[in-house]
Amino acid sequence: MGQFGNLPEGSGRKQVAREIYDGLKGQIASGAYGPGALLPSTRALAAELDVSRTTVTAVYEQLLAEGFLETRQGGKTRVSSALARPVSSVTRRTSRSQPARLSGYGRRIADLPAPPSSPAGKLVADFRYGDLTAADFPTLPWKRALNAAMLRRPQRLRYGDPRGAHELRAALQNYLWRARSLRCDAEQIIVVNGSQQGIDLCARLLLDPADRFVIEDPCYAMARQVFISAGGVPVPVEVDQEGMRTDRLAKIDDARLCYVTPSHQFPLGSVMSAARRQELLAWARRTGATIVEDDYDSEYRYDIRPIEPLQTAGGDEHVIYLGTVSKTLSPMLRLGYLVVPDTLRDAFMRAKQLTDRHTPALEQDALADLVASGAYERHVRKARRRNGERRTALLEALAARLGDSVTVVGADAGLHVVVWFNDIPRRREEALIRKGQSSGLGLYPVTPLYGASAVAYRPDRAGLVVGYAGLDAREIRRGVDGLARVLKSLTGKDR
Ligand SMILES: Cc1ncc(COP(=O)(O)O)c(C=O)c1O
Repeated sequence: MGQFGNLPEGSGRKQVAREIYDGLKGQIASGAYGPGALLPSTRALAAELDVSRTTVTAVYEQLLAEGFLETRQGGKTRVSSALARPVSSVTRRTSRSQPARLSGYGRRIADLPAPPSSPAGKLVADFRYGDLTAADFPTLPWKRALNAAMLRRPQRLRYGDPRGAHELRAALQNYLWRARSLRCDAEQIIVVNGSQQGIDLCARLLLDPADRFVIEDPCYAMARQVFISAGGVPVPVEVDQEGMRTDRLAKIDDARLCYVTPSHQFPLGSVMSAARRQELLAWARRTGATIVEDDYDSEYRYDIRPIEPLQTAGGDEHVIYLGTVSKTLSPMLRLGYLVVPDTLRDAFMRAKQLTDRHTPALEQDALADLVASGAYERHVRKARRRNGERRTALLEALAARLGDSVTVVGADAGLHVVVWFNDIPRRREEALIRKGQSSGLGLYPVTPLYGASAVAYRPDRAGLVVGYAGLDAREIRRGVDGLARVLKSLTGKDR
């Protein structure tokens, strides 16, 4: 290696320069600074590392001379674009040190199956459930609300209320009453980073390792996995056209918690009947279990009237209600809310505070504006209309191209349907998905949503969870055309 230009010998500066040189070269080798990446200016890096600018300049010149860096017009220093990308950006373990030991929680997480991933590259149609179309996002109202929130920023920046900003909780309390006939006090609302954090807080506060929890089967896998990670033992209860089979609860006396999606069962789409709601609430009162009511997509009803939440139907002491803007605005915002019984308010507030202090304040303020001004509900009406059109396109295409070779369930509400393939046995579900992927289709199996795949109530057919909110009508039709071709190649039948 060179001598770092004119840096004086023996002053310690050459040693400092060598350390910086080694560090930068390591970053380049690992890919942290890839080919063409912009480096900080010598002034900025010198200030950052608290060394003289001459030292940093000498290092940059050395790396330039060796061909690791280049300067283009404008004098900015970049990693040479001629460098090959490193094979792996993962830093290899060089020492023989012991790896970190996972806690029981960590080990349980490590044992969980990974969620299905989207195939790489541009797809003809990706039916991934949970995605929304970016063009549906209310960009202008959101920008206005964010700007207004910025202008309202107080003089002093400080942590906010762990339960969430009062303005947002008050706006949500009103909204929940208007939209869901839900009566609560703003003090019962806790703003969280999406439903997922709400579910996680419920697990931490209500379950001890080895405690049993009741969960719909099939269910939202991300909820089941949270409860299992907390050490909970699942008690799966089958689902039919009226939602969870609450008659199965009679023999379960020792569960601490029950997670349900009564307004639109995930993934099968049934609505829990009034009789079962009463049975579920009576069970919770009798056993002291807490019901976690996930109302994740109640804004989207097409052929059915809104159903009042369990929380309203006399269950406010035993029900934690969970809502989110992930289906109405964006899953990337990470904004949701819990309505908790009075007796649990303080515990949830403290747990939220210990987890992350509070949900980011600016976005909370913007959402408060949107909800209080009525812009949120105007947007929800628009989103419902657009998603209703996508749903129609999907159902029409499925009927036209696949006819009675499929059974579609759960289309009355929400942003997805479940499609059962009447001529394909369950053991070929994987093959269906792989064939679809090789034709540019993002397809997602229903099997991982069942606790155990070999249960009597699970149809012995291949099934897909088909999300449509991230696609336009043309993509939906193309996707269903592709699916029809895949089906033909698997069954040899035209339909
Ligand atoms: C049943 C259910 N609950 C909640 C959510 C949303 O979670 P979050 O608010 O964390 O984005 C989803 C999203 O896919 C869901 O399917």
